[in-house]
Parts: sequence; structure tokens; C-alpha cells
Amino acid sequence: MTKYALELNNISKKYGDFTAVDYLSLQVKEGEIFGFLGPNGAGKSTTIRILCTLALPTSGSAKIAGYDLNKDSGKVRENIGLVAEKLIMYDGLTAYQNLRFFGKLYGIPKKS
Ligand SMILES: Nc1ncnc2c1ncn2[C@@H]1O[C@H](COP(=O)(O)OP(=O)(O)OP(=O)(O)O)[C@@H](O)[C@H]1O
Ligand SMILES: [Mg+2]
Repeated sequence: MTKYALELNNISKKYGDFTAVDYLSLQVKEGEIFGFLGPNGAGKSTTIRILCTLALPTSGSAKIAGYDLNKDSGKVRENIGLVAEKLIMYDGLTAYQNLRFFGKLYGIPKKS
């Protein structure tokens, strides 16, 4: 059986009456490089926000690394990385403190 890094089943996101993501289904295999393209306003960022557990889908389900987005968001977060358009670092922390903070989120011990 093919192992998927990402599986989306009929994900939709509505803001009131407006549909930002309209029943999106797709699969990405482990090791596959996947480009997610679309015109402005197509719903790309909204979909990525859902996959990063930063927004809830209105309907549908998704699995990331085998973990259910709706039921196991903590495990999903442990298994994803996001490189955003803007650099996300805390200005008030040193470079080392930033590394320690994000390392801790991923359970990386201090001595590794
Ligand atoms: N919080 C929100 N409330 C209402 N509408 C929203 C919200 N977030 C996004 N939208 C709308 O949903 C649609 C999809 O937006 P989204 O930002 O996901 O598109 P996108 O594909 O990332 O576009 P772009 O290429 O411009 O980055 C747009 O019409 C946008 O105005
Ligand atoms: Mg966008």
C-alpha cells in the first residue's frame, strides 16, 4: 500500500457564505516534491493554514504523516515544518535561544 505524507479528503473552508476552499482532495506520496499552484485567491494559503493546524476546515478530513488533522493536531505539528514567506524568528531572542525554542517544540534534546 502506498504511504502518503499528505492525504486530503474533501477539505472545504467557508467564511460565512464565501467558499475559500471548495472540497479539495489530493495525495502526496512520501518523498514526493509537490508544487501547489493556483491564481490569486484560489485558496492556497487557506489550505496551508489548515494543514498547519492554524485554521480549522469547515468540512473534510486530512492526514499528515498518518496523523488525523482533526483528531491529532499535536502529532501533526510535530511532523511538519513550515518555511513562510517572511522569516519567523523572535527578535527578542538570540540566535541560540531561537534554535533552542524551536528545537524544544520538536522534542530535540539539548545535547543532540
Ligand atoms: N479570514 C478570512 N476571511 C474571509 N475571507 C478570507 C479569509 N482568508 C482568506 N479569505 C478569502 O479566501 C480566498 C482565498 O484566499 P487565500 O489567501 O487562501 O488565497 P491564495 O490562493 O493564497 O491567494 P494568493 O495567491 O493571493 O496568496 C480569497 O478570496 C480571500 O479573500
Ligand atoms: Mg496566499
